[in-house]
Amino acid sequence: MNTYRFTTSSQAETEELGKKFSEYLEPGTLVAMYGDLGAGKTAFTRGVLRGLGYDCTVSSPTFAIVNEYRGGRLDLAHFDMYRISSEDELYGTGFYDYLDGSMAVFMEWSENVPFVVDDATVKIRIEHGKGDTRTIEIDFPKEISF
Ligand SMILES: Nc1ncnc2c1ncn2[C@@H]1O[C@H](COP(=O)(O)OP(=O)(O)OP(=O)(O)O)[C@@H](O)[C@H]1O
Ligand SMILES: [Mg+2]
Repeated sequence: MNTYRFTTSSQAETEELGKKFSEYLEPGTLVAMYGDLGAGKTAFTRGVLRGLGYDCTVSSPTFAIVNEYRGGRLDLAHFDMYRISSEDELYGTGFYDYLDGSMAVFMEWSENVPFVVDDATVKIRIEHGKGDTRTIEIDFPKEISF
């Protein structure tokens, strides 16, 4: 794994980082995002989706658990694990069907589903800094350049 560390100062900058990161996504990539409420997990994912060519509304699928985006450069499933606390519950959402390698899968609140994360999983940790700053750490299996 290669670790890349960034600091952003606004939501727009976090979205821009997500947009650049989207270039490295492939079908079957699983991305585990970590960070508190309001850290910027959805902002990052929105940028990713913009980079893939989606211009629709992007919000946390807190109640729906998963939002699907299809028809862009890559299909993407956006999960919010905030309300998930067991493997059985996750199974009930159909999560495992999304891991068939046909799409990228992003997860907010991956803290709640450690059992699906392994060495091949891309990890993104977002932490609050002073004011609107955020530190964003990306563990990626390949060398990438932003
Ligand atoms: N540098 C920054 N990057 C991202 N968001 C920022 C930044 N500075 C301020 N913000 C604000 O922080 C909030 C981030 O919200 P976002 O929905 O992306 O967080 P989240 O991690 O998905 O939270 P949740 O766990 O509630 O889903 C937004 O209100 C955004 O405007
Ligand atoms: Mg969110």
